[in-house]
Amino acid sequence: MGEYRASSAPRRISSEERERILRDPGFGDNFTDYMAHQRWTETEGWGEGEVLPYGTLSLEPAAAVFHYAQEIFEGLKAFRHADGSVWTFRPEKNAVRIQNSARRLALPEISTEDFLASLRAVVSADEPWVPTGGETSLYLRPFMFASENFLGVRAAHTVDYYVIASPAGNYFPRGVQPLVVWVSPLAARAGRGGTGFAKCGGNYASSLQGKYEAAKAGADEVMFLDSETHSNIDELSGMNIFVVYADGRIVTPTLTGSILPGVTRESILTLAADRGLRPSEDSVNYEALTADIAAGRVTEMFACGTAAVINPIGELRDEKATWTIGNGGSGEVTMALREELTGIQYGRVEDRHGWLT
Ligand code: COI
Repeated sequence: MGEYRASSAPRRISSEERERILRDPGFGDNFTDYMAHQRWTETEGWGEGEVLPYGTLSLEPAAAVFHYAQEIFEGLKAFRHADGSVWTFRPEKNAVRIQNSARRLALPEISTEDFLASLRAVVSADEPWVPTGGETSLYLRPFMFASENFLGVRAAHTVDYYVIASPAGNYFPRGVQPLVVWVSPLAARAGRGGTGFAKCGGNYASSLQGKYEAAKAGADEVMFLDSETHSNIDELSGMNIFVVYADGRIVTPTLTGSILPGVTRESILTLAADRGLRPSEDSVNYEALTADIAAGRVTEMFACGTAAVINPIGELRDEKATWTIGNGGSGEVTMALREELTGIQYGRVEDRHGWLT
């Protein structure tokens, strides 16, 4: 496979309208002209890849995804460099992750070759949609779901895979500003032995009540503790977490199975080591964390993810108290890592690890 047949469909959106969107893309509101598609059936396996005009999907109400949530997705970005060229960041990592997610959700694995071809097909067809300037990009959203019409509980025999694209600016409406994070008192995002490590819609659905609680508490985001002991930090609604200590340690929770193995998370561990910091994966006990914040032993915290990039966390809030991290602003280590990561992504800093494709 590895080839996507192109469609000659006309553009849906005028170039004037596209330019207007690209000047201030926000996040997740606008979609490009094309999408990639590939179908899998139990009898035939994966069919030919095709590039279609972006548009409505036609599904019957009996499609299994609506009932049993057999669905997975990915998120990655294409960046435009100063010379006009367009690059993706570590897409082979997303290929491996979607394969792991597929196994967990009993969906068919898409080959790395087909996955990369689907991205290339969309980015090529939608090249005018890759924004220029600032920290903008074209966010790519591959996803796969059970499209068979069947109400029995078993893995679907027909599955559809699509890639859509959306021009993106800042994920957070306030831009790169310190986040206020609400610590969910009861709910966990995912349980041990569950689907936490897989990028499936269900994990995100289960975070929404926490996001609602966070908004009620005046916070931007929600942080979930582990489901078993409710004492260690896991992740935010759709982002990993890092804690920066005054002694140079920079710690992110260990991948216990309930945490998404973020590509940005993994890249930060490498970039932090490059800078002579002491990155590690470890359990982070919430009580110890708040004591360390209060004592000034924790100087910074930040959220990270493809959409969120690296974003400082200024404050934690729970039912009992509020903790200001450092001076509540954007920490030095956080912003230096952000500058370096985005520097590589946008071609301002040498890609010494060979992360760009
Ligand atoms: C991403 O960062 O790509 C995600 O899928 C998370 C979501 C918050 C947009």
